[in-house]
Amino acid sequence: MKIQKAKNPDSLTSFEQTHLPWIIIPEFVKKGEKFEVLVKVGKVDHPMTDEHYIRGIQLCIGRKCFKRILLKLSDHSEAKFKISLEKDSTITARTECNLHGVWESKIKIILYRGNDDK
Ligand SMILES: [Fe+2]
Repeated sequence: MKIQKAKNPDSLTSFEQTHLPWIIIPEFVKKGEKFEVLVKVGKVDHPMTDEHYIRGIQLCIGRKCFKRILLKLSDHSEAKFKISLEKDSTITARTECNLHGVWESKIKIILYRGNDDK
């Protein structure tokens, strides 16, 4: 199956804004500490109706992927994952629309290396 990505991340089409995973992480991520990743579909909420809905959301750290979270029609088009990282990592989120296929976004997480207690 073809995976769709942003053609121009600085200028998303309205269709891309509704389908691309929007990955939200804390401002500071420390080595080995659990944190929450919120994946929304998308920056503009995707419909969740009988005819048009998001089936599931998956998150991967590097090549290691977590089990896909399946959504119900009563859910918002978003999912939360609790993860921790041992090194700077790229995380990938994939979303699957029943009509418009699989969409993917990635972000690189640089671990916080400061000395204070953030
Ligand atoms: Fe869709």
